[in-house]
Formats: sequence, structure tokens, C-alpha cells
Amino acid sequence: MTTQPPPHPDHIFDGELIAESLDRLANSYRPRTQPVPESPSLMLPDSLPETGIGDSAALDTLAPTVLDASAQLHHPGYFAHMDPPTPAITWAASLWQVATNQNLLHPDAAPAARSLTEQVVNWLAPSFGMSGGHFVPGSTIANLTALWAARQLKQVSRIAASEKSHLSIRKSAEILGLKYIALPTNSRHEMDISGLTQLDRTALVLTAGTVATGVIDPLIRPDDAAWVHVDAAWSGPLRLTDRFTHCLDGIETADSVGFSAHKWLYQPKGSALVLFRNSDAAHDALSYGGSYLATPNIGLLGSTPAAAVPLAAMLLSWGRTGLGQRIESDMTKADQLAGLIESDPRFLLWGPNQTGVVVWRPVDAAASDVRNRLENGWVSLTEVDGQTWFRSVAANPSADPSYLFNQVSAAL
Ligand SMILES: Cc1ncc(COP(=O)(O)O)c(C=O)c1O
Repeated sequence: MTTQPPPHPDHIFDGELIAESLDRLANSYRPRTQPVPESPSLMLPDSLPETGIGDSAALDTLAPTVLDASAQLHHPGYFAHMDPPTPAITWAASLWQVATNQNLLHPDAAPAARSLTEQVVNWLAPSFGMSGGHFVPGSTIANLTALWAARQLKQVSRIAASEKSHLSIRKSAEILGLKYIALPTNSRHEMDISGLTQLDRTALVLTAGTVATGVIDPLIRPDDAAWVHVDAAWSGPLRLTDRFTHCLDGIETADSVGFSAHKWLYQPKGSALVLFRNSDAAHDALSYGGSYLATPNIGLLGSTPAAAVPLAAMLLSWGRTGLGQRIESDMTKADQLAGLIESDPRFLLWGPNQTGVVVWRPVDAAASDVRNRLENGWVSLTEVDGQTWFRSVAANPSADPSYLFNQVSAAL
């Protein structure tokens, strides 16, 4: 019997190195005494080093940039972008994902990860009335993939979407060679499709949670629309809650739905789903064979990471109810912040909290000036109807609305 040769030293299990990296991470998680400068200085050499410095020294070199100078998404003041802090269960599972490095493109390079991924899609798709779909790196790619399917299956010649839709819809139209029509919105930023006729060659995009104000378009499918896609990049996970699932009623009539797991499903970046009502037909339309492939390659990506692994771990750990409660708790934080704003005459609230996006501004000061005076970027800025507003997105379960509100008040 031949004995199995050991792996290359770079690829042995090195628990000490991982422990070292975890110590560094733990340190960076402690409350900071200094705010991170806007442009932290890189500790990296100016050019590619000729000679390596070794694993530990590499971590030492990177830690001040990667860990200590990063935005702390879990900070109680962080109520800014659609970027959640990731729960520890996703770090643990991501380590497994990266260490095993399965490639969904090849069944033999991902014998179990392909089925696991399909299972996670099957857990989620029915809540949206969809039959299946696949993982993509973000909603930008989800939108492009869905509209590509619309072009292949229904020969659509144009894409119509709200003027408040995400720029990825315009990008998709350009890439796919389709005409783009921007539809007007009402004063609440909801799309008005009354002027649109002859939808038999049109892919209509409904936005569930606009990027600027979090508003949901009426999720109503016109009878004659060739294809309806719902861009639920941010608010899609509301469908998995008990209290807010109704906000997305009508989504099940769409032909395709996209949402980003790296937004309100608290996943590491690079995790989103595109789902189809008839996923067999959509996948067939987006399927390519190749001499080096054992099974056809579906969708835009070639090599594909098993982003479902950290998501599966989190969903198993929390269950649908636990996930829903966390999202509902984020919504409560958004309501609390909106309440504080409404009760203080120094601030103006743009509109009610619909999907955890609170848009507000100081009455007597420029929002951008006030934000610049905050020690950290704890609110994001958004242009609404020609004016700059704060945008506070409830993506951080550790956010403290009172803390943030007091900090912003002090910066007036
Ligand atoms: C409505 C909407 N669609 C699409 C996107 C793009 O998503 P991603 O950043 O995951 O590509 C965003 C991002 O904020 C969004 O808000």
C-alpha cells in the first residue's frame, strides 16, 4: 500500500496562524479611542516585494489597514449604508468556504457544495413565489441576469423602470442592447406606469426598496407585460419576516426577483440571489456548454464560490423565525430613529419608514457639513429631489438610534 504524501507546507492545516489572525481580529473589535482618518495611510510597500516576508509578518503588515482602519459596521453609531456587520457564524463558515475553495462550475470540484447551494436556493425561493434560481455576487448581477433571461425568453426590446431605479438597470439595458425607459414617480417616489402602453416587448422592472429612500413600487403586474422583474436588492428579506412579509405582496407574480444576501441577510460581500418563476426555462436560456465542462455553465459567472455556505450556517443557526426577528428589530430601530427626528424641530423627516431606510436632514444646516463634522461616517448622504439628505439604513443590529441622534445633534 502506498502512503499518501503530505500536502505542501503552504497547505497544511495551520491552526496557529489562524489563531494569530483571530487575535488580531479580536483586538480590532474592541472600542476604538481614535476615529479612523478619511484616507488612512497604507502600510504597504510601494511596489510588489521581490522577497516575501512570511505569513506572520504579512498579517502584521496588513492588520493596521485591513482591520484597524476599516469602518466598524457593528458600532452603535453606524446607521449608514446597506452594509450590515456580519454575524460571527458567517465568519466561521466562511473560513471553511475559503479553505475548501469549492468551485460550483465543476461537479467534481464541488461535489457537495452544488447540492448545498441548490438546497439553500430552494429554502428561499418559495417565499417569493419563485421555483429556483442561483447565487450571484450582487444585485447588480442579479438584475443583469434576470433581464438577460427576459431578452432570451421573451425577446423584449426595451426595459422600463422607475426614474428612481438603481443604476444597474440602466447598465443592464446598455449591456444587453435594449432601450431603456425611465418612468416618472409620484411625490412618494413610487413608479407611475400609467403612461406606458404596449408592454408585449417590454421587461418592466419594479423596485422594492429604492436605493435613495427605500420606497417600494406598487408590486402590480400589468396583464400585457412580457416580463416583470422585481429588484428587491435591499428589502427582499422582509419577505422572510412575519410582520413585514405583506409589504412585498405581489412579488410572487413576477417572472424574476433579485436580492442581495450581503445586504439584509447579513452575509459577507459577494452574496446575492437571482430567482425565477420558471427557473428551468430561465436556466436553459442562460446555459452554455463547453469542452472543459461536465455540466453546462448557467448564468453570467464562470468559476463560482459557494457563497451559500455562510448563509446556510446562519439560516440553520437562527431559523426563519430568528432571522425574521432580527430584521423586525432593525425595522424597530428605524422607527425609533424616525420618531426622534419627528419630535425635534431642528430636523425634517422625508417620509415614513417603509423598509428601514430613514431619510432626514437638518432644517438650518447643510446635511453634508454636519456629516463632515461627525467623527465617523455614521450616516450616508443621498440626493432627493435636488437636495442632500442623510440616509440611515437599518442594517446594523447593534445600532443605537438615540446614540446616533445625539451625536448628529451635537454636530449641528
Ligand atoms: C435597488 C437596488 N438595486 C440594486 C443594487 C445593487 O446591489 P449590489 O450592490 O448588491 O450589486 C442596489 C444597491 O444598493 C439597490 O439598492
